[in-house]
Amino acid sequence: MEDGKAIPLHAKRVVSLPRNNDDDASTVTLEENGLVRKLVLRPKSSGLNPRVIPERLVDREIRALKLLDGVEGIQQFILRDSDISFFSRYECGIPLKEYNLNLPNSYFDELFQILRSIHKRGVYNLDGSRGNFLVTSTQRPILLDFANILFRDDPIANIPGVIKMAEAYSLLRTYRLRSMYTNGNQPFLATNHKP
Ligand SMILES: Nc1ncnc2c1ncn2[C@@H]1O[C@H](COP(=O)(O)OP(=O)(O)O)[C@@H](O)[C@H]1O
Ligand SMILES: [Mg+2]
Repeated sequence: MEDGKAIPLHAKRVVSLPRNNDDDASTVTLEENGLVRKLVLRPKSSGLNPRVIPERLVDREIRALKLLDGVEGIQQFILRDSDISFFSRYECGIPLKEYNLNLPNSYFDELFQILRSIHKRGVYNLDGSRGNFLVTSTQRPILLDFANILFRDDPIANIPGVIKMAEAYSLLRTYRLRSMYTNGNQPFLATNHKP
């Protein structure tokens, strides 16, 4: 199926999913057909460029999801229904942002494994918001939201150190999350930690 070709799904918006930040540059909805639709309305930052237009953002997000196809623990792309929107499979889990219990080390071991896999495929996630990490019912991670990513072949990635910096950012963010959620046996209080 060609990117950019609109496919009428007759999907109807039924539920708004929790957002990971306050801006309204995109809306994410769970549709009647059981898929999640992301519609990008305004420019946002991606790949160290602070203002990427919606069409280009959606190009980039879909490109990342296709490059990552088959990596376990990654949101799955389904199809693009317009220049500025696409569908992905609904992943069942609680965003870390709303998860207020400790997590086992295995959650983070698996998350590091996912990051190593995506870096190997030339994708570096620059958005460490806790809304982008889901916890499944068996306490396994799912990584979402590949809008703000750096590709290994982005022109800016030729600047020495940029790839290393992107890699380090995503790993350090995950170490930080691990220290927040594996804090002894004390129940974690989400309100103590922002974002
Ligand atoms: N495929 C999906 N399955 C389940 N929940 C999703 C999915 N995609 C997005 N979400 C939910 O919607 C929220 C916003 O989606 P996201 O792609 O992170 O958009 P934004 O770029 O606005 O942060 C996520 O934090 C998550 O809670
Ligand atoms: Mg997000």
